[in-house]
Amino acid sequence: MRDRIEKRMAEIAVIGLGYIGLPTAIMFANAGFNVTGYEIRKDVVERINSGKAHIVEPDIDDLLRKVIESGKLRATSNPADIREKDVYIICVQTPLREDRTPNLTYLESAVETVAKAMKPGALIVIESTIPPLTTVRMAEFIEELTGLKPGRDFYMVHAPERVMPGRIFRELVYNSRILGGITPESAEIAERLYRSFVKGQVFRTKSTVSEVVKLMENTFRDVNIALANEFAYLAHQYGINVFEAIELANSHPRVKIHVPGIGVGGHCLPKDPHLLVWPARDDFGLIRLAREINDGMPLLAKDLLFEALRTINLPPEKAVVAVLGLAYKGDSDDTRNSPASAFVEAIVDDVAEVRTYDPFVEGTHGSLEEALRGADAVVIATDHTVFRSLDWETLGKLMRNRVLIDGRHVVEMPPEGFVFKGVGRGEY
Ligand SMILES: NC(=O)c1ccc[n+]([C@@H]2O[C@H](COP(=O)([O-])OP(=O)(O)OC[C@H]3O[C@@H](n4cnc5c(N)ncnc54)[C@H](O)[C@@H]3O)[C@@H](O)[C@H]2O)c1
Repeated sequence: MRDRIEKRMAEIAVIGLGYIGLPTAIMFANAGFNVTGYEIRKDVVERINSGKAHIVEPDIDDLLRKVIESGKLRATSNPADIREKDVYIICVQTPLREDRTPNLTYLESAVETVAKAMKPGALIVIESTIPPLTTVRMAEFIEELTGLKPGRDFYMVHAPERVMPGRIFRELVYNSRILGGITPESAEIAERLYRSFVKGQVFRTKSTVSEVVKLMENTFRDVNIALANEFAYLAHQYGINVFEAIELANSHPRVKIHVPGIGVGGHCLPKDPHLLVWPARDDFGLIRLAREINDGMPLLAKDLLFEALRTINLPPEKAVVAVLGLAYKGDSDDTRNSPASAFVEAIVDDVAEVRTYDPFVEGTHGSLEEALRGADAVVIATDHTVFRSLDWETLGKLMRNRVLIDGRHVVEMPPEGFVFKGVGRGEY
């Protein structure tokens, strides 16, 4: 196996071709391996094989076209096409259920597909973010299905993905990588594989450690954002601008307060803290409370909107509200767990009409002007770069009333003629 990896002869199957799986498949194909991407969505398979990516990510179309044209990457929905590969890399989604417990059915089904296709000696990598102890459990599941002994008859590793959408191709190469093996040999073989394109540091450890590391990273960010959001609430009580206060506090050499806003979204941050504590015996209050604070932020934006409507004597049920941005983060089309959607949901039954405009997201208004024409209020819910330099004087003329709520600190100075409020802006 080591030799086949070094000579780029190892055959790789990537399971799940989404935000993580497709770029990963492209990177291994680009490094010279023959890669088969296995994906249950047939529309995605067709699109990828025609050389067009179904996700928005800088450079992805050029890179994809190159590996499709060279024949190094091919996508399929047929499990027979991934039989007896040397390496399987699982990149399926690991979302939460309604009750905030992990939904591991995609992972279990992917592992089952791999177990049916694999040969002895294969390396199985899970890149998906998973609750602690899951890799070991999946290795046992494969043993049950195949009779093959983990660590002896096949290798298994958890290689958590730590890239950020928008910078995926750079970060795949330069980020450090944690490889958690069910045995040291598993991690060592995986290191040879990832070294084919990773230039960052590679750390080998146990799979339970890598599972916890990945989840701690996102929990660290979530808890810190919750603290910043708590500060934003406080700023409203004291009539100050939290962003000024944070900038000043961050001038201290040992303080680094995060950025508050309308909420925390995406596939990862809102779920990973739940995955971290889910298998644990005891309750972990701080982590759960941070989640509650962040989930509550769209309601603060709602309060600010209604407060502003009151100042112009417009009952909410008569208000037409335009929400700018549906993606969970700037310059992305990803709407998963988006606080913008949570905000829309929070107001939709209380106002006359909600319109959404997001230049990256299909199914929203065709143009900003169209969304704002005749609107009473506009709420910025995503920090897309284009929203930072809007000409409010001209846009304001399209509106029936001029209320502007900034949920993302993209408007530095309140524009003339608007009733302006912002999350954390107790004062402008
Ligand atoms: N998106 C990110 O920025 C990011 C960053 C770090 C880690 N992660 C983690 O990576 C994992 C994947 O996330 P994603 O954003 O790429 O998800 P995604 O939803 O974009 O992609 C998953 C893909 O897997 C496919 N799939 C599901 N079950 C399958 C099966 N049994 N066989 C074949 N294909 C199957 C789905 O159709 C989908 O296309 C998650 O665990 C996530 O937490 C994501």
